Amino acid sequence: MTVSLNEKYIKEFVEEDELTAMQDFIEVAHRKMHEKKSMGAEYLGWLDWPSSIKESELQKIEKSAEEIRQEMDVLIVIGIGGSYLGTKAVKKLLRPSFGLDSMQIIYAGQNLSGRYMEDLLSYIEGKNVAVNVISKSGTTTEPAIAFRTIRKWLYDQYGEDAAKRIIATTDASEGALRKSVETEGFQSFEIPPDIGGRYSVLTAVGLFPLAVAGVDIRSLLDGAKQAEKDLAEPNLSANHAYLYAAYRQILNMRGYSTEVLASYEPAMTAFHEWWKQLFGESEGKQGKGIFPASVIYSTDLHSLGQYLQNGRRILFETMVSFEEDQHSSKIPFDEENVDGLNYLADKTLHEVNKQALDAAALAHVEGGVPVLSLEVQRLDDFHTGYLIYFFMKACAMSAYLSGVNPFDQPGVELYKQNMFELLGKPGYGDKR
Ligand code: PA5
Repeated sequence: MTVSLNEKYIKEFVEEDELTAMQDFIEVAHRKMHEKKSMGAEYLGWLDWPSSIKESELQKIEKSAEEIRQEMDVLIVIGIGGSYLGTKAVKKLLRPSFGLDSMQIIYAGQNLSGRYMEDLLSYIEGKNVAVNVISKSGTTTEPAIAFRTIRKWLYDQYGEDAAKRIIATTDASEGALRKSVETEGFQSFEIPPDIGGRYSVLTAVGLFPLAVAGVDIRSLLDGAKQAEKDLAEPNLSANHAYLYAAYRQILNMRGYSTEVLASYEPAMTAFHEWWKQLFGESEGKQGKGIFPASVIYSTDLHSLGQYLQNGRRILFETMVSFEEDQHSSKIPFDEENVDGLNYLADKTLHEVNKQALDAAALAHVEGGVPVLSLEVQRLDDFHTGYLIYFFMKACAMSAYLSGVNPFDQPGVELYKQNMFELLGKPGYGDKR
């Protein structure tokens, strides 16, 4: 099964012939995408990346990550958007929920908060610190400012040795960050020119910091490789990434313009943020797109759940569940049974969580919310890699079905340009 779309809750909202009608469009888009003749084809490098990443690149990542693990306490990942969200998503999903790992990963460059930076600098005081600065363009303002500040701190602390603690992940030849690599001699990794930020988690962008965090990056890639193979055909009955894309667009055409990704696993919180960027930035353009939102259940059944049940009927929900019961926490039997819970004694939390999923799905369907149920076989590195590739392929197809280029982000570029102009960057216009 690996990752599959269970259609049990959606059947009453979508007719079979609506899906059949989608199949023809999907076949055309699929062919163009695989022949690399579709819109934005110059950014389709992620499509066969899991099966084509070089062994030498993997060994370089692993060697460098192991050195950091041996010698450092903290790795600061500096980056924004696609340059850090994938790392955070996978790390939070696969590493323990509580307690510090022996190697701590913290993040910078996603905001311009002075308070955040001060807190970070005081937190790393006295710790053994390395930095992985990640920017494809090498010119994004937020990570560039964070890097300048943290780089100064490193040089103040470690003198010339600081350069050995900096690993840059950026374009092979372009951008300010590449220039720093050349002048200061930082170790570096290259972001393939044909893979954009939000599709880059399986390149050194994500793999290096994830290897430092202790994630099994080979299993992660094996899962993605399996997905690359499984999802290489256009037939909706076999390709559930496309089936998901088809349902999304059918629902969108009916006015369900917001998708709520719902997980029953709190470790998915950061993964939701990666997913929102992937779909939001890929589809939200030309006045089109499905607004991506997310909830964690049961937590949000006691807050946004009310809106889901009875609010404006513009929502559909995609519920993600991990099928295998991997944890043995059982609800204990209690002689007194004051709380009346003995009817649940000996059930695992997983079993009860599954019932919460079905209970919410049934209620929301009754309330007029179409529910797609995405079932992931188990929560591990392999299936996470599979799920990442699944969503990237679904997202590209969904964007093509709505007639937009999945790989550009003109809106983001506009704000970046405005920042330069408002801050008075030399060589740019002046909006002041
Ligand atoms: O998906 C994208 O392309 C963007 O979200 C970028 O990742 C983000 O804007 C950061 O860009 P850069 O890596 O060039 O600093």
